[in-house]
Amino acid sequence: MDAKISSNSSMDSNKYNLYNYYYYSLKKISLFLFPIAGILIFITYLSSTSPKSLLTPQLFQCPSFSHHNETAKLWAPKDELSDALRKASMPNKTVIIAVVNKAYVEGKNMLDLFLEGFWAGEGTRELVSHLMIVAVDQTAYERCLFRGLHCYRLITDGVDFMGEKVFMSDDFIKMMWSRTLLLRDILKKGYNFIFTDTDVIWLRNPFKVLTTNKTRDFDIQFSTDAFNGNSSSLHNSINTGFYFVRSNNKTISLFDKWYGLKDNSTGLKEQDVLQNMIWKGVLGDLGIKARYLDTRFFSGFCQVSRDIRSVVTVHANCCRFIKAKVADLKRVLRDWAIFKVTPANDTKIFRWSPHMDCIKSWQINVGNNNKT
Ligand SMILES: *[C@@H]1O[C@H](CO)[C@@H](O)[C@H](O)[C@H]1NC(C)=O
Ligand SMILES: *[C@@H]1O[C@H](CO)[C@@H](O)[C@H](O)[C@H]1NC(C)=O
Ligand SMILES: *[C@@H]1O[C@H](CO)[C@@H](O)[C@H](O)[C@H]1NC(C)=O
Ligand SMILES: *[C@@H]1O[C@H](CO)[C@@H](O)[C@H](O)[C@H]1NC(C)=O
Ligand SMILES: *[C@@H]1O[C@H](CO)[C@@H](O)[C@H](O)[C@H]1NC(C)=O
Ligand SMILES: *[C@@H]1O[C@H](CO)[C@@H](O)[C@H](O)[C@H]1NC(C)=O
Ligand SMILES: *[C@@H]1O[C@H](CO)[C@@H](O)[C@H](O)[C@H]1NC(C)=O
Repeated sequence: MDAKISSNSSMDSNKYNLYNYYYYSLKKISLFLFPIAGILIFITYLSSTSPKSLLTPQLFQCPSFSHHNETAKLWAPKDELSDALRKASMPNKTVIIAVVNKAYVEGKNMLDLFLEGFWAGEGTRELVSHLMIVAVDQTAYERCLFRGLHCYRLITDGVDFMGEKVFMSDDFIKMMWSRTLLLRDILKKGYNFIFTDTDVIWLRNPFKVLTTNKTRDFDIQFSTDAFNGNSSSLHNSINTGFYFVRSNNKTISLFDKWYGLKDNSTGLKEQDVLQNMIWKGVLGDLGIKARYLDTRFFSGFCQVSRDIRSVVTVHANCCRFIKAKVADLKRVLRDWAIFKVTPANDTKIFRWSPHMDCIKSWQINVGNNNKT
């Protein structure tokens, strides 16, 4: 499985060397191409006067660039995010975004299981080449490169995102907000995206449901923990573990407003902040067409899909701890493998295996019927 996944993507693990090489060769070339370079520099200069994003990463910028003259500086590849997006993007400027930290790439890990899903799913293998992994620490970044994926290293000033963050700790909240800021920047660069948590297993190609003739006009499509039967009802609760956003000024305004509440939302995680905004009517105010996704297609452990022939994704929601999620998502993949070899006849009686570990993660003792 690993060999297959790395073989369909061409990535650059030795960026440092590459950039040094670029730098020195550009320096030479610029001597020969000086007149042309001059014109290009002038144009670049005109277009570089826009304010820089807060997220402009410092990691790959050789510090010596800034001490050289404008020639070298302007030729240097300075926008890592644009580069990463361009590599991962489909021709229609659409990408799949997932965020990982150290805790998700170690041991019997979530990232590997997530990738296994793309291997096992129907028509999902080629989607891996449009997946951009956002690594929030160095370990996760190295693991991503090792897996041969498109990787982007998100640096946030002064925060170490390494551990399994205690839910709602200060660092957890900071990580969530820096993610929102990144997604806003991705929209601003004109890319549509599916954001997916890595505890979402993709069994079928979601674009076949998200971009049909009937659904393509929606600006934003949210998965739900429990679907209330009405895909336009604001009473559905959103789950930002899987959602699809089209890039346009309405969705950019939404993300601006959302991120704008960062310092005014003590004690709330970013999903709750967005949910509150929606309940206060922000989607209507901005003219955003939103759709809530049926758990029949975008399933999860909170409300499992009854219909394995339709299911697109399975999210390990309503579950605590990475270990429990991994154990139960493995059951999902096992069930899926059995379904794939079962004659079409028998799928009516198909049932998912119970997600024991996730149920236990809430310390509910399912095997105990002693109550009277
Ligand atoms: C800037 O760099 C170019 C190319 O390396 C060089 O030709 C030029 O002399 C440099 N100018 C200054 C002021 O250092
Ligand atoms: C972009 O193209 C892919 C592949 O053709 C398609 O599946 C997807 O729906 C398109 N995305 C959008 C936003 O239309
Ligand atoms: C979608 O719309 C296009 C033209 O707008 C049409 O050619 C195509 O048949 C439609 N597809 C479906 C599945 O209705
Ligand atoms: C679904 O929800 C929308 C928005 O709340 C409402 O206008 C519509 O009547 C609902 N549809 C049904 C079938 O209940
Ligand atoms: C929205 O985007 C269009 C171009 O797609 C632009 O012409 C228009 O001015 C924008 N509107 C606002 C309110 O920013
Ligand atoms: C920020 O919080 C203060 C106090 O809680 C409140 O008065 C204010 O309206 C909030 N601002 C926004 C933009 O929600
Ligand atoms: C379904 O099962 C019946 C017997 O149980 C068999 O006769 C029939 O050929 C099967 N149909 C398919 C499509 O597998």
